[in-house]
Amino acid sequence: MLIPNTSPTFLPWEESEPSPRWGEIFANDNPLALEIGCGVGDFITQMAALHPTTNFIALDFYNKGCIKTCKRVDKAGLTNVRVLRAEARSFIEACVPLGSLRTVVINCPDPWPKLRHRKRRLVNSGFVSYLHPFMQPDADFYFSTDFVDYGLDVAEFMTAQPGFINQLAPDPFRHTLEGYPLSKYMRRFLDLGQPIYYVHYRRA
Ligand SMILES: C[S@@+](CC[C@H](N)C(=O)[O-])C[C@H]1O[C@@H](n2cnc3c(N)ncnc32)[C@H](O)[C@@H]1O
Repeated sequence: MLIPNTSPTFLPWEESEPSPRWGEIFANDNPLALEIGCGVGDFITQMAALHPTTNFIALDFYNKGCIKTCKRVDKAGLTNVRVLRAEARSFIEACVPLGSLRTVVINCPDPWPKLRHRKRRLVNSGFVSYLHPFMQPDADFYFSTDFVDYGLDVAEFMTAQPGFINQLAPDPFRHTLEGYPLSKYMRRFLDLGQPIYYVHYRRA
């Protein structure tokens, strides 16, 4: 049994249901940003406070993470965030209008370190191609990871990814990104002395 999430920030949505009407939900037509795998919501809470004229969708299929994210957002008094419990592709397919996302953020996705599990990784060239039509021209794509192999892999395939321009050129990745808040996982790995790999591209 799932613990019910009663926060006003939580948007209950089931796969068979029609898409939420974002303009009505946020009561404005501000640009939309999507964080895939928001975890416990510390990143999105900081981002939403820094960018009050952007509407943030925090997505995770982990119920307790959604509850913690809502608590953080509510405590901060933010009205520009909605939290949904859903799988990324199913949600995007059903609820994200083509060309509507101003920003897509994926921080420290599960690294699936074992070689035979690598194909389970969320972020690969196919997934970024899938995201492309849902993003506005000039939309930002941010990826971060503490996992060296994952960071190098994303940095490398992105250099050949059609329709995206590297915003960190000539570097394929960096270990710091000004103005970009730390997530729980980033903080955890920085505390262990492990660098974060940041990748930042923009839709052409
Ligand atoms: C390792 S945690 C990182 C959490 C957070 N981004 C951070 O940096 O602290 C990865 C999160 O992504 C979520 N996740 C993984 N695959 C997902 C998918 N396909 N759709 C939605 N959430 C997903 C997991 O439930 C988990 O909360």
